[in-house]
Amino acid sequence: MANVSVNISGAPYEVHVERGLLDRAGERVRALTAASRVAVVTDIRVAPLYLEPLRRSLSAAGLEPVDVTITAGEAHKTLATVEMIYDRLLDARIDRATPIVALGGGVVGDVAGFAAATILRGVPLVQVPTTLLAMVDASVGGKTGVNHLRGKNLIGAFHQPHAVLIDPNVLASLPAWQLSNGLAECIKHELIRDADGFARLEQGIERALSLDMNYLEELIAHNVAIKASVVEADPLERGERAHLNFGHTFAHAIESSMNYDIAHGRAVGLGIVAASYLSMRLGSVQQSEFERIRSLLARARLHTGGVQTPTEGLINAMRRDKKIQSGQLRFVLLDGIGRAVVRDDVPQDLVREALAMIR
Ligand code: GLY
Repeated sequence: MANVSVNISGAPYEVHVERGLLDRAGERVRALTAASRVAVVTDIRVAPLYLEPLRRSLSAAGLEPVDVTITAGEAHKTLATVEMIYDRLLDARIDRATPIVALGGGVVGDVAGFAAATILRGVPLVQVPTTLLAMVDASVGGKTGVNHLRGKNLIGAFHQPHAVLIDPNVLASLPAWQLSNGLAECIKHELIRDADGFARLEQGIERALSLDMNYLEELIAHNVAIKASVVEADPLERGERAHLNFGHTFAHAIESSMNYDIAHGRAVGLGIVAASYLSMRLGSVQQSEFERIRSLLARARLHTGGVQTPTEGLINAMRRDKKIQSGQLRFVLLDGIGRAVVRDDVPQDLVREALAMIR
């Protein structure tokens, strides 16, 4: 059991990592609110597994749950889904004190978070992530939003949660690829901030994959602490928060070129290989470090090659990324394992080489 404080000025909150916490979620939400009702947003995959235990726990704490179940998947991370949530919650006459609890993976967290940021000009949000990726990344830091036809996450708001409740036990029901998906973000965190953490993950990756809960609890708390330290320093992504996008310029290009028919973590794994290769070619990562990174991704059962989209298609997709400034491709790269740097002077031929590396 571990608590991580996220000290964002004006909006501090706690992330609780605790096995069995789902059954005690009601008392934690009760402690945060004087409201008598709670809105729960979940999706059709998570609802059959965890909605009932959460409802029971809320009711036992004297909170009346009003739930909304959305269709699962990235294709439904849209304004239409958010409107459906507005309709249901406005019909139920929620008020500004009614918290929204997001029960699910990254899509649920982003959509429910955006609804919480905007309905009645903002209501409290509690994140209850059910995938490793959402636990170590999406649920912490306040990014909420939806996709637009022009690209991913183009509509959104920063809305920090009032609390994040993580029950590692729920990972036992995840398909194996979902665990690998989350490990991609864990590897990213270690690469940008913690060389010792990277070495520990090299030792422990099999324990994570075999669902050793003691190990996972530690791994989650450690990754949440890394994410917290980055977002505390730069909550609105004016500067160093961009380090969290390590591997993501490549990953977003791969995802959009495949119409999002690839898991985010898989695309991030490929993006990490490309960005690490680029770092090596620019002299800031040694070949032995690059090989360690690629090998850890493979051991996490992530792909390190096999991208089929033509290079020009990927470069065009990268140019459309919302994080591009003044038309210049900008990359988060490594300065050795454990440190990130932002570069916007990377020669195009090296970008092409990096893309060739993940074919
Ligand atoms: N997932 C990247 C961030 O929260 O900034």
